Amino acid sequence: MTRSTRPSRGRLATARVVLAGVLALVAVVLAAVPASAHASLVSTDPAEGAVLPKAPERITLTFDEPVSLSATGARLFDAAGDEVEIEAASRDRVVTAAIGADLADGTYVLSYRVVSADSHPIAGSLSFSVGAPSETVVPPSAGTAPGDVAVRAVLGAVQGVGYAALLLAAGLLVFLAWLLPTGPGQEVARARSLRVALVACTVAVVALIARVPLSVLYQQGLGLSGLDSALPWTSWVSGDGLMALLAAAGLGAAVLGTTRRLRYVAAAGSAVAVGGLAVVGHTRSYGPVLLVVPADVAHVAAAAVWLGGLVGLAISLPTLAKRDRVAAETIGRFSLLAGGLLAVVAAAGLVLGWRIIGSWSGLVGTAYGLVLLFKTGIVGVVALVAAWNRWVLVPRVVEASGYGPRLEAARMLRGAVRTEAGLLVVVLLLTGFLVNLVPRPAPSLAAAERTTVTAVADDVKVVAHVGPGRVGRNTVHVQVQDLAGEPVEPYATPTVALERDDVDLGTRPLRNVDSGTYVSEVVVPQPGTWEVRVSVRTSEFDNPVLTLDLDVEPGG
Ligand code: HEM
Repeated sequence: MTRSTRPSRGRLATARVVLAGVLALVAVVLAAVPASAHASLVSTDPAEGAVLPKAPERITLTFDEPVSLSATGARLFDAAGDEVEIEAASRDRVVTAAIGADLADGTYVLSYRVVSADSHPIAGSLSFSVGAPSETVVPPSAGTAPGDVAVRAVLGAVQGVGYAALLLAAGLLVFLAWLLPTGPGQEVARARSLRVALVACTVAVVALIARVPLSVLYQQGLGLSGLDSALPWTSWVSGDGLMALLAAAGLGAAVLGTTRRLRYVAAAGSAVAVGGLAVVGHTRSYGPVLLVVPADVAHVAAAAVWLGGLVGLAISLPTLAKRDRVAAETIGRFSLLAGGLLAVVAAAGLVLGWRIIGSWSGLVGTAYGLVLLFKTGIVGVVALVAAWNRWVLVPRVVEASGYGPRLEAARMLRGAVRTEAGLLVVVLLLTGFLVNLVPRPAPSLAAAERTTVTAVADDVKVVAHVGPGRVGRNTVHVQVQDLAGEPVEPYATPTVALERDDVDLGTRPLRNVDSGTYVSEVVVPQPGTWEVRVSVRTSEFDNPVLTLDLDVEPGG
């Protein structure tokens, strides 16, 4: 017989109130951290590729979000690749580099690295010339690298191990509190599960603490040797620091709540621990925040209960198999739950992927999209193993009569459950690297500097840019979007026409380069104001024509 301690109504009510309070606290903490997008460079002075008659005294870069200059900051190089002394500083959205010396004629390259408010680094370069462009330009050897390779590798591994340990610890503690029977004969399984959970708690907290200085190195573009300096050790008041704190506090509470009586505390503690993951990362960068943050919390919470349940089952199956009714109940309950958990993990994962990547082309055209596809593929294999367990192995254990056949069936189920859990750990290690990849290529500065017009017809929006607005080759870039800003295919290929006074360059079709995205190169022969007409047939009856004046300057 299973003996369980039934909590009184009063205690239950108190526990539920505690749970609600803790969850509300998490929601407040999460909502209090403002969502912030990846910053993009919107303009520079001098402009990219500009040829200036005299040397500038300063260079300014303006972003669309506040940024801070990283330790490797901004560096200016001449055409020979020699460094020129500058003094760079960032304030709100603007980075300014004051140039000490008077620059000689020739081409210069400014390389910069800033950290945007969502804690991701952005590196790039700007080139301009004084007097006339140099015939050859040596690319600068430093400053624009996406970050130290060793730091990225170590950070990815630490994040992956942290995810696996955190989700295992939280899920196993929930399994102990809610699913594993408390009766006689289960002491060994309970003690073993608790030991594994405690080891996982320790690894998770250590990995999340280690993440703090490593994230600083990554953001600042420093190598592992940067650990010798004070900078990485002074950033505990940060999103990563808060995440480690929530994990330690939540797991601590969950460990205390592994009895049936305090099982709500275990659930609330585990929710706080894994919910803290939503404090930093891409889920803070892409909105709407009320959709993405709850999806992230649901994703990791369901994944934790799933992983913890599988490991708990693998640990306790041999002892469970000794007791027919208890074994059938426990395995049946978890198996039912696992189907729902898989559905929540997959649905929330798809929402995250959709919001973070933002287009079908990004799914196959970026490293982020490809790694996510690979991750989804492994989850597909896990789902097949889970289905095999659910419909073939679990019925065998439940229906087996007698200790021997039940133990045999339980042994097979244990093997399959271990495979499932092992594959989930691989998924988590992969996720550690996924979260550091850039999901959307930053829009190029040239695109930001082009002249832009927007037209809205029924439920379709057309955005057209033309630039750079100099005599010679110019690019017309058109994107057809729905009202939410997602690219859509128009009814027919758009066309572009250019005209000025009595010069008509004719009408030409644009070239489809991506979903709903079209470009065309046009050679503008004379300076002055040109009328550019972009015609987009969005339905059988709608054909909005966008007209914009393009001021064309002399010079190539
Ligand atoms: C259909 C399957 C899945 C899809 C489409 C999916 C998709 C995603 C996406 C798009 C993210 C956001 C990554 C970022 O911040 O850049 C994410 C995060 C994450 N996923 Fe999944 N996932 C899936 C299954 C799983 C499974 C099975 C697990 C665990 C066993 C898991 C664990 C995680 C974790 C721990 C994070 C990090 C959350 C954070 O740091 O906020 N995912 N997933």
